[in-house]
Amino acid sequence: MRIDLLNLFPEMFAGAFEHSIIKRACQKGLLQIALTDIRDYATDKHRSVDDRPYGGGSGMVMMCGPVFDAIEDIARQDGPVDEVILLTPQGRPFDQQTAKELAQKQRIVLIAGHYEGFDERIREHLPTKEISIGDYVLSGGEIPAMVVVDAVTRLIPGVLGDEYSSVEESFSESLLEYPHYTRPAEFRGWTVPEILLSGNHQEIKKWRQEQAHKRTHRRRPDLLEDKKDVED
Ligand code: ADE
Repeated sequence: MRIDLLNLFPEMFAGAFEHSIIKRACQKGLLQIALTDIRDYATDKHRSVDDRPYGGGSGMVMMCGPVFDAIEDIARQDGPVDEVILLTPQGRPFDQQTAKELAQKQRIVLIAGHYEGFDERIREHLPTKEISIGDYVLSGGEIPAMVVVDAVTRLIPGVLGDEYSSVEESFSESLLEYPHYTRPAEFRGWTVPEILLSGNHQEIKKWRQEQAHKRTHRRRPDLLEDKKDVED
């Protein structure tokens, strides 16, 4: 899979993508990340990518020209793009289902803006999807883009090794994950549930399912409602 990231601060991504699972996915050839600096498509000597809003008001607005030119250029260079995704607090809330769908694609483009927002014509005519990572406003789309890349990468077939599994983790069945424990069996007087030391795999599986349900019921009953809607 290839992920193109259009952004204004390419250096912000270096640390995030040079470790752990994303790094491994790139090394295995399962993921290719291409960073494009939108400023490279500015046309004036100041390399401007933003301007004051028509009608007045505070903040600056991302201009159409550099963003359209950047997208059209990268699509021309390296073949078809399956999805163009704009990161914005106004987008659809990002969830595991969307991550799964994106992980099936060959090539996606993420647009991470900055400043007050995008010229509305970018929103109207470029993206196939708008995604928000939550109901709060960040200073730019870079961190949301990292969140999307991370969540999608671990779902690309072959990325997670045997030591990890995306099948049993939180949200994969619209349930939160059951509790995990590792050695020691007792720490500061707190013990590991007996069942996990029993070696009875069937009972352990049952206990984990129960725990996942209980935890979801207590913490995120909305997920159980959503699950019911899907099953009905
Ligand atoms: N840009 C700024 N805030 C954002 C958010 N919550 N989600 C996606 N992109 C954003």
